[in-house]
Amino acid sequence: MRIGILTAGGDCPGLNAAIRGVGKTAIVKYGMEVIGISSGFLGLINKEYEVLTEPQLSGILTLGGTILGTSREKPFKKSKEIFNSIDKPKLIKKHYDELELDCVVCIGGNGTMKNAAKLAELGINVIGLPKTIDNDVWGTDVTFGFDSAVGIATDAIDRLHSTANSHKRTMVIEIMGHDAGWLALYAGMAGGGDVILIPEIEYDMDVVTKYLLDRANKKKPYSIVVVAEGIKRPEKYKSAAYYIAKTIRDKTGLDTRETILGYIQRGGSPSPMDRILATRYGAYAAELIHKKQFGLMVSKDGDSIGSVLLTDVAGKLRIVPKGNRLVAKARGLGVCFGDYYCKDE
Ligand code: F6P
Repeated sequence: MRIGILTAGGDCPGLNAAIRGVGKTAIVKYGMEVIGISSGFLGLINKEYEVLTEPQLSGILTLGGTILGTSREKPFKKSKEIFNSIDKPKLIKKHYDELELDCVVCIGGNGTMKNAAKLAELGINVIGLPKTIDNDVWGTDVTFGFDSAVGIATDAIDRLHSTANSHKRTMVIEIMGHDAGWLALYAGMAGGGDVILIPEIEYDMDVVTKYLLDRANKKKPYSIVVVAEGIKRPEKYKSAAYYIAKTIRDKTGLDTRETILGYIQRGGSPSPMDRILATRYGAYAAELIHKKQFGLMVSKDGDSIGSVLLTDVAGKLRIVPKGNRLVAKARGLGVCFGDYYCKDE
């Protein structure tokens, strides 16, 4: 068999480990031919690729980024130009046939899974692998990239503690996550955040400031406020951290500073757990292809690696649900999520 691998959407640690997992298993275990498609779906549209041999897949396990490159190309989005617009899906199918591929492994997040499901409708065999630091792909317990990002963000919060303590300040840190607050929640908990604001829980600034003032009155020398980038706020504020810090300053007079962690969360070498997860996902993808099982996304359920239908995943988002156990435990410890705060609790 001859398979293609592409990485699409925002990058994250573990992409190369996944490419290696798919590629090595396909070549070593099943004797398949593997090609790497450049820059996500753009590579399929432009027929840009390179043959990946086993030696080329060595030495990439620990590398951040993706050796294939990535893009946010949406091949099924209708172009605004009525004239001169190319039929991208048609081109993709043509190139898939010309390259004599038996399957394309699409490594990506929600958008990629949606596009992969649409490729399947064109008659292309696809397998999806879920990655993203946001951990918001439906149908799997966890995406690779998440564990590494939790580590990076936790390290950043740890460092804020010491400087916050020196200056007796309130530190607001903005963590990535537009629609899902997994990363802010996990890093916030691992880093001992006092306030954690995520898009899934509606917050009230009066609650947040009352909580912070109460801490100050209890002679707590400083506070750490962890904020997901996607929390609701007045439209004019591009940065969640800036808005929250400014509001805290204005309402309380507390000496407050903001930090936006940004793309550091997506860069660098994957954590050991992400290397293992990406390798397991990749190897499983090759096994599915060998068994000629397509139209699936590789997933994790407990400790088992399995798969779910791409059509079930497409268009869905996995957010922090109501009643999440970590949130419940955090509340028990006195962490404030901005929705309510009872002094006497
Ligand atoms: O990969 C997911 C993510 O990191 C989001 O948390 C973030 O909002 C987004 O990507 C930004 O990525 P880009 O600027 O590459 O579109």
